[in-house]
Order: sequence, then structure tokens, then C-alpha cells
Amino acid sequence: MKKQQDLQNSKEIKLSDIKPILSRTDLKGTIKYCNKYFQEISGYSENELIGAPHNIIRHPDMPKVIFKLMWERLKQQQDILAVVKNLSKSGDYYWVTTLFETKYHPFTKAPEGYLALRKAAPKKAVEAVIPLYQKLVEIENNEGVSASEDYLYNFLREQNKDYDTYMKDLVNYKGFIAKFFEGMSKMFT
Ligand SMILES: Cc1cc2nc3c(=O)[nH]c(=O)nc-3n(C[C@H](O)[C@H](O)[C@H](O)COP(=O)(O)O)c2cc1C
Repeated sequence: MKKQQDLQNSKEIKLSDIKPILSRTDLKGTIKYCNKYFQEISGYSENELIGAPHNIIRHPDMPKVIFKLMWERLKQQQDILAVVKNLSKSGDYYWVTTLFETKYHPFTKAPEGYLALRKAAPKKAVEAVIPLYQKLVEIENNEGVSASEDYLYNFLREQNKDYDTYMKDLVNYKGFIAKFFEGMSKMFT
């Protein structure tokens, strides 16, 4: 894996418009399954991924507050959508629209783990979140996560949107895109 200072020369990995990047975890975020396209894009083998914590592909440009929100939602068995920048093994990066969901045991119906469904993020969504995420990371480095959470909620208030509406609008979550995620989700009950 590249060191943080080497990431400045990293390249964006171009993603397929139609291939999903999928992973499943247990309730702690340990990877239990990932599809072939996940392995191809991340640069890790299935052996390296299964059993690894999901932050193996965490990019330092991602604000902590987005993952905080994600875990809070999942613990309440609520889905959450996010635009995520991920880090490949070689130090390159790729932007994905990600839907995080809880999956349940077929018989007991108890939460069993989580599923992440991903596809290439739209360019306009990436362009919109870059300055927001930069600001959030900067605040986190100087003042901590609760200050960045305040900033995020003020930002959303100024947009007159809650988090979900903001993300859905940003990634154009309707029509084909919504059907893509819903279809994928049904395949993984
Ligand atoms: C189903 C599932 C999928 C996840 N996918 C990603 C991902 O693609 N990229 C990522 O950085 N974190 C992902 N996470 C979150 C990580 O588990 C972790 O919370 C995050 O990378 C922050 O890591 P940190 O606590 O070391 O800062 C996922 C978690 C779950 C439950």
C-alpha cells in the first residue's frame, strides 16, 4: 500500500457504468464477501479481502463523519446512501455511489450483517462533494468529528435538505439508478 504522501500522484480508476462493486460484512464490518469487480478494482485478491476490516480500502480524503453517520444508520437498521472515495491497493482511487443496507437472518430475522452496493458515481456528484469533504476533513483534523458534524448539518440546512434528500438529488437516485440498486439488493436477501 502507498504511503499517504505518495497519494498526491495517484490516479483515478475509471469504472464501468454498469458493473456493480459489491461487498458484504458481518456486524463489525469484517468483509465476508466481495464480487470479482470489487477485487479487480481494489487490486486485492479475494484471499486478502475476506476477513479483512472494510477500512482496508478507506481513503484518507473521506471524512470520518460520513462513516459515523453510516454506522449510526446501519445500527438502527436504516439504509444510507453516500458518495465514497475508495483507495486501491496500488494507491489509486475511485469514486462510487454506495448504498449501505442491513441484511437479516432468513429464519430468525435478526440483523446478520451489512451489504454495500456500489456503482460509478456521477461526475457532478463527485465535483460537488470534493470541496465539502475537503472542508469536513480539515475541520476534523483541527477540531474533531463533532465540529465537522455541526458543519455538515449547517451545510444541509443551507441547502434546505436533509442528508438523504441531498445525497439522492446529488446521485440522481431515481429511474434507472434506483432500479439498479433495488434490483441488486433483491438478489442479496
Ligand atoms: C457493508 C459495509 C461496506 C463498507 N464499505 C466501505 C467502503 O467501500 N469504503 C470505506 O472506506 N469504508 C467502508 N465501510 C466502512 C468501514 O467499515 C469503516 O467504518 C470506514 O472505512 C472508516 O474507517 P476508520 O474507522 O478506520 O476511519 C463499509 C462498512 C460496511 C459495513
